[in-house]
Amino acid sequence: MIKFFRQIRKSLLMENTLKSISVLFLLMIFIGSCKKNSADQNESTINKTSNYKTTIENKIDSILDIMTIEEKVGQMNQYNGFWDVTGPIPKNGTAEMKYDHLKKGWVGAMLNVRGVEQIETLQKIAVEDTRLGIPLIFGYDVIHGYKTLSPIPLAEASSWDLEAIQKSARVAATEASSAGINWTFAPMVDITRDARWGRVMEGAGEDPFLGSKIAEARVKGFQGDNLKANNTIAACAKHFAAYGFAEAGKEYNTVDIGTSTLHNIVLPPFKAAVNADVKTIMNSFNELNGIPVTGSTYLQRDILKGEWGFQGFVVSDWASIRELINWGHAKNKKEAAKIAANAGSDMDMEGYVYVQELAKLVEQGDLKESVINDAVRRILRVKFELGLFDDPYKYCDIKNEENTLYHPKHQEVVLDIAKKSIVLLKNDNNLLPLKKAGQKIALIGALAADKSSPLGSWRTASDDDTAISVLEGLQKYTGNTLTYEKGVDLTIGQTNFINELDINYTDKSEFPNAIKAAKESDVVVIVLGEHGYQSGEGRSRTHLGLPGLQQELLEAVFKVNKNIVLVLNNGRPLAIEWAANHIPAIVEAWQLGSQSGNAIAQVLYGDYNPSGKLTMSFPRNVGQLPIYYNYKNTGRPTNDGNNVFWSHYSDSKNTPLFPFGYGLSYSNFEYSNFRINGREFKINDSIELSIDITNTGNYNGKEVVQLYIRDLVGSITRPIKELKGFELIEIKKGETKTVDFILNKELLGFYNNNGEFITEPGDFKVYIGGNSVDTLEKEIELIK
Ligand code: NOJ
Repeated sequence: MIKFFRQIRKSLLMENTLKSISVLFLLMIFIGSCKKNSADQNESTINKTSNYKTTIENKIDSILDIMTIEEKVGQMNQYNGFWDVTGPIPKNGTAEMKYDHLKKGWVGAMLNVRGVEQIETLQKIAVEDTRLGIPLIFGYDVIHGYKTLSPIPLAEASSWDLEAIQKSARVAATEASSAGINWTFAPMVDITRDARWGRVMEGAGEDPFLGSKIAEARVKGFQGDNLKANNTIAACAKHFAAYGFAEAGKEYNTVDIGTSTLHNIVLPPFKAAVNADVKTIMNSFNELNGIPVTGSTYLQRDILKGEWGFQGFVVSDWASIRELINWGHAKNKKEAAKIAANAGSDMDMEGYVYVQELAKLVEQGDLKESVINDAVRRILRVKFELGLFDDPYKYCDIKNEENTLYHPKHQEVVLDIAKKSIVLLKNDNNLLPLKKAGQKIALIGALAADKSSPLGSWRTASDDDTAISVLEGLQKYTGNTLTYEKGVDLTIGQTNFINELDINYTDKSEFPNAIKAAKESDVVVIVLGEHGYQSGEGRSRTHLGLPGLQQELLEAVFKVNKNIVLVLNNGRPLAIEWAANHIPAIVEAWQLGSQSGNAIAQVLYGDYNPSGKLTMSFPRNVGQLPIYYNYKNTGRPTNDGNNVFWSHYSDSKNTPLFPFGYGLSYSNFEYSNFRINGREFKINDSIELSIDITNTGNYNGKEVVQLYIRDLVGSITRPIKELKGFELIEIKKGETKTVDFILNKELLGFYNNNGEFITEPGDFKVYIGGNSVDTLEKEIELIK
């Protein structure tokens, strides 16, 4: 605040009398004078939809009053740092130009600048060299950690542990904020049904109910209880909207979905993030039903800012405003800028369009200044809420940075969630957990010794080779003899930019060593899957088997030793039907971040009893995609007799290999005594459900108890199952626990094709179980 006053004083000295009067007015506002009325249409919309007239609004009015149009547009301009590029480099973008714009106050935000030293340098320019001294906001892709990495988000979702997920986001925010960053481009809350899309690793999977809970947990984790603290940062729910439905899983592709899918599947996690007070939203690269979403008034103004009353700002995705031209939705940059600004895209990320076009558009009378004022108000509001006007350097403490990054306490948090993220897919004859002594174990696979792949995609600031490998994790258990052989290289190398078409998978020279080790051992632990950069942005794939020669290696090893534990490291569901049919034990260990190897070793040796459950269905083959549990029944749902005319494939089962919600434990859980407090209920009733779960196995364990419904008849057809509740419980061996759920009209309702939320009377099935398939069921009826 003191520094801001200094800027105001500086402006008072520098500017002409008229400006000085305005600045004096601003100063008065800061010491408590009242808000001036605004005739601005967009602003009054905001004010009508909420009671957001706080002192912050008064301060913003005062700033708006003295800003030139260029300075206003500057706030809407975000530049990438000059050294770290995450998208196509614009031909006319130069470091010199950016620097010049920064000094003129034509930049409101930066991205990909990190570290206290760098951030402080740029913040100083904004605060001390520009006319108004408005601080910058610094965004960064803190997706699953900053230096210390948590599991990739899809893995974390498999924990179904909202508290652990929130803690993991807290650690990410703590580290990022210590490095000067005050805004993360996370969480990604896109619902994903197609594992071909590389970005499924960034989200929470296929279910909107679970996705909403996780969105909320992540926003709370990043933003904490007090945004003015120096270890909390603004979150950004992305990508608004429907990017996860890119046709055929192809990156940046078109999206064509109906109203029902949009409202019931795609939008709920965004709404949950807004309800959790997320400060920013990022729009996205895709079009939705013919309108590129960056230019969608319907999504950004009508739904987000209108219906939901979102008060923060919308940032475009990287150059997505300029890409309106490529989509064929705008004929030039001028038109792109106008469309996006009118549609409610408040900030242009590295697109150069707003900074070049918006002021001219206003001056020529082609764009209302009120549109600009609305965007700037939103951006300034977030800056105020972050406390940047009080202290623009609040995140710039080099000692704090040194003491915080890779902190041992953070390692504990990410180890905890890494263990919880592991999903036991198969465990025939209780091959797992491994005996702790007297065994010869062969560890095979390039990924087993890899210290970078477990960091996954979007490892951004983290350092290569900082993950604990499976080899290192298993070496801590010294009772057995451990032999390591890589078997085959993954061949794609440690690069962020891979073109798999260029790879020639032929080198089998290490096969014999692996086969020999397998032959001579009691148990084989083989770690296979994807390289850390094989999923993520720009990594759509059409093959979902084990990449390269890994399948061949697995089959060769299987020929000599059947006691195989297959540990999967991957960023998306894989199609591993052969393995599911032949390999006795399969552990889905994703990409688990910094503590990966320790987490995997603890699960394999039974020091942690696996409790994760899948949040994306695993397909049998790519042809089944998109595949998801909450599909529609169709008019021809079953195979009656030998009839071929039903909804199916002739060469594959309809069912997934492993369904949504599925995951085993070293223990067994039996569900019994499912009860409901009636059969017939009125729309406003609370429906009470209970079920007993008994741990009948030999280990204490955790179970995710899942509640599903099916609305049997709807004016809009309803899915065959919908998750409506879950509880993660710990049950000791031999113990029985009761879990209670409540259903009400919110949980039983849905959005119709006008986007209205309705609950319709009629029959419902209610299911409770440990996954989306194996459930106990009952029926209820909702009457008027
Ligand atoms: C493009 C990605 O789509 C988005 O998710 C990311 O936040 C930005 N680049 C910034 O890196």
